Amino acid sequence: MQKIVHLKSKNHSMIIKVDRVPEILHWGAKIAQIDPDLMLSTERPISQARLDVDVPLSLCPELGSGHFNAPGIEGHRNGEDWAPVFTTTSIEHDDNSATFTLQDDIAGLELLIELQLDFNSDVVQKRITVKNTTAGEYCLGKLSSTLPLPNHANELMTFHGRWCHEFQTQRLSFEHGGFMQENRRGRTSHENFPGLFAGTNGFSEQLGQVWGFHLGWSGNHQLRADVRSDGRRFVQAGELLLSGEKRLQSGETYQSPWLYATYSNSGLNGISERFHEFVRANIIQFPNNKPRPVHLNTWEGIYFDHKPEYIMQMATEAAEMGVERFIIDDGWFIGRDGERAALGDWYLDETKYPNGLEPVIEHVNNNGMEFGLWVEPEMVSQDSNLYRQHPDWVLGLQGYHQPSGRWQYVLDLQNQDCFNYLFERLNDLLTRYNIGYLKWDMNRELVQPGHQGKPAVHGQTKALYRLLDELQAAHPAVEIESCSSGGGRIDFEILKRTQRFWASDCNDALERQAIQRGMSYFFPPEVMGAHIGPAECHSTNRRHAINMRGVTALSGHMGVELDPVKESAEEKQAFAHYIQLHKQYRDLLHSGRTFRIDPADQNQNIYGVENGQEMLITVCQLAMPNHALPSPLRVSCADENARYEVKIVEMPKTSFQLMKQRPQWLDKTMTLSGDNLKEIGVTLPILDPESALIVHLKKM
Ligand code: GLA
Repeated sequence: MQKIVHLKSKNHSMIIKVDRVPEILHWGAKIAQIDPDLMLSTERPISQARLDVDVPLSLCPELGSGHFNAPGIEGHRNGEDWAPVFTTTSIEHDDNSATFTLQDDIAGLELLIELQLDFNSDVVQKRITVKNTTAGEYCLGKLSSTLPLPNHANELMTFHGRWCHEFQTQRLSFEHGGFMQENRRGRTSHENFPGLFAGTNGFSEQLGQVWGFHLGWSGNHQLRADVRSDGRRFVQAGELLLSGEKRLQSGETYQSPWLYATYSNSGLNGISERFHEFVRANIIQFPNNKPRPVHLNTWEGIYFDHKPEYIMQMATEAAEMGVERFIIDDGWFIGRDGERAALGDWYLDETKYPNGLEPVIEHVNNNGMEFGLWVEPEMVSQDSNLYRQHPDWVLGLQGYHQPSGRWQYVLDLQNQDCFNYLFERLNDLLTRYNIGYLKWDMNRELVQPGHQGKPAVHGQTKALYRLLDELQAAHPAVEIESCSSGGGRIDFEILKRTQRFWASDCNDALERQAIQRGMSYFFPPEVMGAHIGPAECHSTNRRHAINMRGVTALSGHMGVELDPVKESAEEKQAFAHYIQLHKQYRDLLHSGRTFRIDPADQNQNIYGVENGQEMLITVCQLAMPNHALPSPLRVSCADENARYEVKIVEMPKTSFQLMKQRPQWLDKTMTLSGDNLKEIGVTLPILDPESALIVHLKKM
């Protein structure tokens, strides 16, 4: 069989040659037509002192055919069938998608490789299903999706992080060897976000060819980018299976998570634009098409100290500031006076709330706000009634001591009784109370993830998805936030069943600038929870003026996280001001195209959003300016044929320390043409470190 499959989207082509196995010849810019001589022109030479045949870098590379780098599939049948070699037996395709069936009759395995290229967004999804087609159990070690990169993709950008420090990036040269990330934490994790970029040397926000990847999975994963010694290179991602975790009986299948990928010839901006478009159209399910309400979350305001009267006072003041959804965080359920006890006992603590939760919720609703509640369903504290009754519901390994995390253990969601208990508790809360929103937390890693003695991260992750799916089916109007000690569970698969992410427990605006920037490559602003915290940040003890805090929070799904009762009148006025500003531009922020501008000064972060009619650009001075004068703001995405009304909508209120005379336009509305904005730009004031401004541009 020799065949060419050409998948096309609005701007991209993926050309796949199928010989014995499918191999991508091109993935990137659109090719109008396949040349008759394509096969001839892409035939590779065979080098000296190597195998005598050409080895394809196929959609599932095989050790058994001479691919000496990471194979796409690994496993064995009682020690045999460990190096399968496949032959394509059928191809089904149209212009945007293709499914290849491959078989190895000796090993008794069948692969189904699916590729879908979304026409509008140019995002390709890939996944593989393997079937054990013969007698005897097949112990699957790995099944990953591989996508090739061209040789001029010679630089990587990868992610790392930790609690309060999510979505940090680093650059790596990608000429020889490669990069590998293995996540065994049992959740998407802060440390190993399952995404990376490869691109031409020095690719930036605005420039260069870039290929972007994200694995949609909330459990363990493996992600790698390899350069073969012949120069060909590829990215590979899939679930990391623990020893013996996936054993397929005859006729059984295993399906890998989706790998999402896209290409851009306009730097990282082209990548985020495509991922955002894809996510908005295909992943996010908002129960009702209303604007995302501004939050007040009680955590940093009162922690475990719940007094209904006081909480109602907080709610009154929140409503006065313009808050639209009031969320009671941790501390509301029986025995939860600190972080060491009570997880699992999802009943209202009537010593704290003697009149029930209803009066508080009514008060919140009467003040025009929705009510939300925090839960952490997958967990159990050792000091809890649930643990005392069902110590065997803990996900673990019999006979071993298991370290706790935040003094808690993980529940085994594959235990049907446990699953039913959690469903019943959550269903009861959602039925009993008028709850519009759940903050669904998950605050520890899986250390001995055993179900009936067998490794169970895969099963646990699937069971979590099922719990969320069943709850959403029962309560379709309820929105859910995915929180995991901040941003420990942020990925496309969990986003199919949640509506918002808590990006980080760090409300330090300076830290948030980096976290939100990293997150913005994959996720649109409307799902990025961003809150104004108190002046002195609880996670860093650093102080920021309200300008920096307000500007940083207002470009995501905005909220405040503090006790308004204790704040000064002046601060409260400022919160109201930023909430109002957010609402004014919320439509634009939550539906427009996100972009970032490469700053001349590396101590600046410049980002914006535009919708063809208007644009909001934030300039944040992260640290001391690099030079005495800032470079002009060049608006690269301005429409050359249009004229714009340009004005500042937000600036530091305090006096500027580094500037004695400010550019006059700061207090005026200018009219500028698109080409002026693009090529000449507008001068900026000299911003003090850790301050920010916002410019609004409106097409005339
Ligand atoms: C985690 C979350 C916080 C807060 C606390 C409550 O740390 O990330 O936002 O909800 O739990 O215990």
